[in-house]
Amino acid sequence: MAVRPIVIYGNPVLRKVCEPVEEINQETKDLVSDLADTLNDAHGLGLAAPQIGVSKRVFILDLSAIDLTATLTVFINPEIIETSDQEVELEEGCLSFPGLYQKIVRPAVVKVRATDLEGNRFEVEADGMTARAILHEYDHLEGVLFIDRMSALTRTLIRGRLKKLKKVS
Ligand code: NI
Repeated sequence: MAVRPIVIYGNPVLRKVCEPVEEINQETKDLVSDLADTLNDAHGLGLAAPQIGVSKRVFILDLSAIDLTATLTVFINPEIIETSDQEVELEEGCLSFPGLYQKIVRPAVVKVRATDLEGNRFEVEADGMTARAILHEYDHLEGVLFIDRMSALTRTLIRGRLKKLKKVS
């Protein structure tokens, strides 16, 4: 399909709670195809539908850059079933915040249930960068951004950079 422009911080679509996908049809397939092309072009690890301006509960992960055995995974209408009490601090970036990387604390392990492009429900338990990516992308579907997970101190320190991003978006 097509590489679509990535929505940058400041665009209100990033703050909307996304709508569930009612039916996996051609529109859903085209959306996933656009997400895959856009993610591949941007060399990112994950991308959520609102980041290309579509307020639907869909995200994709492609961790092949850090794990050669990884393939593209599509999460439609995902639900977080469980997260570990144990938390880890890892550096995160987001394609909607170009150039911004910060350490964020999140659960170390996540169990998620979602539908794939064939309409099958599946469950994954993940840790490491996969867990991190799932939690980050899931947040996008709720209108939550990684800056919301930063400490108040960090947010103060990056305030100027956020203002600049908002101006260009
Ligand atoms: Ni993101």
